[in-house]
Amino acid sequence: MRRDPEPSDGGIHPLLAGRFSPYRFDPSAAVDDETLGLLLEAARWAPSAGNSQPWGFFAARPGEPDHERVVRHLAPSSARWATDAGLLVVTSTRRHVDDTELRYSEFADYDLGQAIAHMTLQAEALGLASHQFRAFDMEGLTKELSPNPGWAIVSMIALGKAVGEPPEGRDRRSVAELLSAPWASP
Ligand SMILES: Cc1cc2nc3c(=O)[nH]c(=O)nc-3n(C[C@H](O)[C@H](O)[C@H](O)COP(=O)(O)O)c2cc1C
Repeated sequence: MRRDPEPSDGGIHPLLAGRFSPYRFDPSAAVDDETLGLLLEAARWAPSAGNSQPWGFFAARPGEPDHERVVRHLAPSSARWATDAGLLVVTSTRRHVDDTELRYSEFADYDLGQAIAHMTLQAEALGLASHQFRAFDMEGLTKELSPNPGWAIVSMIALGKAVGEPPEGRDRRSVAELLSAPWASP
C-alpha cells in the first residue's frame, strides 16, 4: 500500500512524497511492454549537458532469458527483493570517448541520475515503485553485458508493485542544513 503524503512531507507533490524504495515487490505484478516503453520514454526526455544524453539501459523482466543473465549477478542482499520486481534495469553512462581516457562529458553521471529520476517518477505516476541499488557484482555483470567502449555500468533499478509500508528510518537532513553544510562560515 502506498503512503499518503503527510504534513511533514513539506507540501511537495504527492508523487514525490509517496515515493520510497521498497524491500518487497509483488512477484505476480508484471510490467507490460507499454509501461516499459513509458519508463524509457520518460528517461529519454531528461535534460543533459549539451543535450549529450549519455545514458543507456538494459531492461529485463522475469521470464525473459535476459532476466536470468542479470539476476545471477545480484548480491545476496538485493537478490532477496529485486528478483521479485516486475522489471530490472541496468543503468549505464558514457563517460569516455571510445576506450580513451578522454571525457565524453564531465556531467555523464549527473545526467544519468536525472534520466533515472525521470524514469522513477514516471514509475510512481503509473503506480509502480522503484528501488535503485549497487548491491551486485559489477565485474561479473560488466563481463556478462559487455558494454561498448566508453560506456560503464553504474547502478541497477528494481521496478514493480511495492508490497508493504515504507521502511523505518527514512530520515532526511534539514533544508537549513542543505543550504549551510557545503559552505565555510563567513
Ligand atoms: C545510487 C544508489 C545506490 C543504492 N544502493 C542500494 C543498495 O545497494 N542496496 C539497498 O538496499 N538500497 C540501495 N539504495 C537505496 C537507498 O538506500 C535509498 O534510496 C535511501 O536509503 C533513501 O530511502 P528512500 O529511497 O526510501 O527514500 C541505493 C540508492 C541509490 C540512489
